[in-house]
Amino acid sequence: MSKHDTHFFNNFSIVIVGLIAVAIAIFALARSVAARTQVPETYSDPKYVESVGERTKPFVRVAVAGKDNSALKIEAPAAAMTIALAVPKDGAALYDAVCKTCHATGLVGSPKFGDHAAWAPRIAKGKPALYDHALQGYAGTSGVMPPKGGRTDLSDDLIKQGVDFLVSKAQ
Ligand code: HEC
Repeated sequence: MSKHDTHFFNNFSIVIVGLIAVAIAIFALARSVAARTQVPETYSDPKYVESVGERTKPFVRVAVAGKDNSALKIEAPAAAMTIALAVPKDGAALYDAVCKTCHATGLVGSPKFGDHAAWAPRIAKGKPALYDHALQGYAGTSGVMPPKGGRTDLSDDLIKQGVDFLVSKAQ
């Protein structure tokens, strides 16, 4: 190597080291500026915060007694909340919709529809007693007649029409 080459090599090394030092200085400056501006801004961005909450929330949510559990509420469609049972229009329709369940076949000891022998002693008690038993419920010797056949939402008048219908078919 000539003396000239050595001189060049030394200068060149100094320049390289200087450039590396400048690069590190710029990198350090960029980091310190970002730490004060970019990082806090990212972490306080509402969209970012929300997306982290969304991704890190637990799969299972448990209702805790005495705590506010409103976030667990399941929103049911409005239609599902208002299922109203149809109101039969007369005694015959009431029989079809409600009383038939038991009285058509004599289920759970009920007097069977149109069965004269089964109905005769009951009819003998008189209409007021039958009305009363259909409205209030009745536990006789053969089974249990539930109040209004289970449809306590229906009017007394309609239930009486149902009794009239049952009786008229068994007389
Ligand atoms: C879950 C079954 C069931 C349904 C539904 C039902 N009944 Fe009855 N019902 C009975 C049973 C059981 C008896 C007999 C009770 C006994 O005498 O021990 C009876 C008895 C009666 C009697 C005779 C009561 C008496 O004093 O002898 C009448 C009247 C009557 N039901 C009317 C109705 C009418 C009207 C409906 C419909 C709105 C209806 N039932 C629906 C089970 C039912």
